[in-house]
Amino acid sequence: MIRTVELAAPAKINLDLRVTGTRRDGYHELRTLFQALELHDTVTLTRRPGPLVVRSRSRRVPRDRQNIGWTAAQALWTALGRGGPPVGVAVSIRKRIPLCGGLGGGSSNAAAVLRGLAILWDAPRAVGGMRSLKKLALSIGADVPFLLTGGLALGTGRGDSIRRLPALPPLWVVLAVPHFGVSTPDAYRWFDNFPSAVRNDELLPRRWRRRLDALQNHLEAPVVERHPEIGDCILRLRQLGAAHTAMTGSGSTVFGLFHGQELAEAARRRLRAPGWHTVLTRTLDREEFRGLARPRLGK
Ligand code: C5P
Repeated sequence: MIRTVELAAPAKINLDLRVTGTRRDGYHELRTLFQALELHDTVTLTRRPGPLVVRSRSRRVPRDRQNIGWTAAQALWTALGRGGPPVGVAVSIRKRIPLCGGLGGGSSNAAAVLRGLAILWDAPRAVGGMRSLKKLALSIGADVPFLLTGGLALGTGRGDSIRRLPALPPLWVVLAVPHFGVSTPDAYRWFDNFPSAVRNDELLPRRWRRRLDALQNHLEAPVVERHPEIGDCILRLRQLGAAHTAMTGSGSTVFGLFHGQELAEAARRRLRAPGWHTVLTRTLDREEFRGLARPRLGK
């Protein structure tokens, strides 16, 4: 019998994010380019008697129902026709992805919990395969469906309707993470109240693959208005030679894209700003994502 499943849960950035409308369900209609990164958390699922527990050494990770991994476990448990709260498993999360930074850490943990529990609970047969996992992922959070498969993809709807795209050439990514996070609902609220929120640039520019600096994030200006240091960091990364630099998702992390590792390493070294934490990582295409995220089973 399989006793443990260990999975990598990779981070994402939004290379581009355009808000194209508001929806009746309170969400915003998006068109966004998701890119998976090598930076990842590690999620380990272990069978144990008794109620589900969530563990993490990182003190900021919630260990109760607030944890989105818990939500994922509950969603799969219910989809399998079982009543009450889930039992029989411990979820351990080794955090490397900064929290509340727009890097999809929690969503990726949830996607990993779904993929791992589907193995432990033999769910694909019971709930009808990967397509059903995607449906469950939709119900957990807007970024979760993308983080089941990774690579480069266009997200529409709430960002949860995913169309896979051919990979970009490999890019080195410098992440600059401030000491504060930005809550996603706040960022969208600030966007709604931002003066130039009515936009006519809903489509990606033509030939964007060759013009990475034409990519943009509609949430950036409203968030920078509250946190000007994010704008300063974007400017600084541009001066340090990034092919493109922007805020990811609803912030607070800023990323810079580089074509070469040395240039990226030099930029990271020179970026040092008090209170900011930097990470050097790289983009993952779908094959690499599959390799990294492959579940490792223990008997
Ligand atoms: O689905 P997720 O948990 O990532 O979304 C958190 C919040 O962000 C939502 O409750 C909503 O306020 C906002 N959001 C939005 N439109 C989106 C995604 C998120 O308004 N497409």
